Amino acid sequence: MGERETVERTAAAPATARSLAADLTTLGLPRGGVVLVHSSLRAIGWVVGGAEAVVEALLDAVGPDGTLVVPSFSTARTEPSRWQHPPVPESWWPVIRAETPAFDPRVSSTRQMGAIVDCVLRWPGTVRGPHPHVSLAANGPLASEVVAPHPLDAGLGDASPMGRLYDLDAHVLLLGVGHGNNSSLHLAEARANYPAKTYYDEGAAVLIDGERRWVTFRDFDTDDEDFPDVGAAFEAGGDVARVGRVGSGEARLMRQRALVDFAVTEIERRRSPR
Ligand SMILES: CC(C)(COP(=O)(O)OP(=O)(O)OC[C@H]1O[C@@H](n2cnc3c(N)ncnc32)[C@H](O)[C@@H]1OP(=O)(O)O)[C@@H](O)C(=O)NCCC(=O)NCCS
Repeated sequence: MGERETVERTAAAPATARSLAADLTTLGLPRGGVVLVHSSLRAIGWVVGGAEAVVEALLDAVGPDGTLVVPSFSTARTEPSRWQHPPVPESWWPVIRAETPAFDPRVSSTRQMGAIVDCVLRWPGTVRGPHPHVSLAANGPLASEVVAPHPLDAGLGDASPMGRLYDLDAHVLLLGVGHGNNSSLHLAEARANYPAKTYYDEGAAVLIDGERRWVTFRDFDTDDEDFPDVGAAFEAGGDVARVGRVGSGEARLMRQRALVDFAVTEIERRRSPR
């Protein structure tokens, strides 16, 4: 599957920055609001100008007073003994810990975030947060306030940008992806109490006083396996998510606070023995 397949399944005409901005506004994207976007470019169908046009459309739809936020996670830089996709030989772990370059928000690559995120990162005015694994990046008047501070052990919990998006009553837009990619559910997971919740030692290469260091910190073990079901249950609960077409793809728009409040209880229910 590639660009050829995307052309073949695109509706009569390709989407443009202008048509996408109109689709986003029709979906209900709030002008002047704060919107966290998870995306797949391919799922939108063929777009004239690709990722660049999608970012233009998103910024156009939120307007100059709005703030566009994206996950800019760099999860290839985590503690190597925990790697699964793929695992690496144990004999490599020390050299990975010793030699991984310190996270630098200006240059460190994202992993599995997509072409739209990488384009937002290159966009003038975008600010990326300092977390070596789960930074957010944002463009707009509240960008700096959203992405930092981000303590190492806050992950996607209350003291992280996710918690600030909750306080700001932000929207979440799933653009061609499902609730499995809805990172705000990790905030709910962080708040929830369930018997199988475990904590582990995470590690990261960071710059401290100009010096590269491998540091360790505690975080809880996240698990997104039930996120599609939690998201479906949320949507089944009433008029809480707008679902519509953006280009040739499906998009879902919701308020993060309503989602997280629902998901805390739902996760506790699903992850507790019956
Ligand atoms: C992993 C993920 C990004 C892959 O999505 P994707 O659409 O396949 O990849 P991208 O968004 O990078 O877009 C690139 C694809 O767009 C397609 N494309 C290229 N030009 C295009 C155009 N002009 N118009 C539309 N699509 C185009 C191509 O198929 C290209 O893939 P290829 O280079 O392998 O052929 C997506 O599935 C995902 O998980 N997104 C959410 C990420 C996230 O927010 N995660 C956080 C929580 S875990």
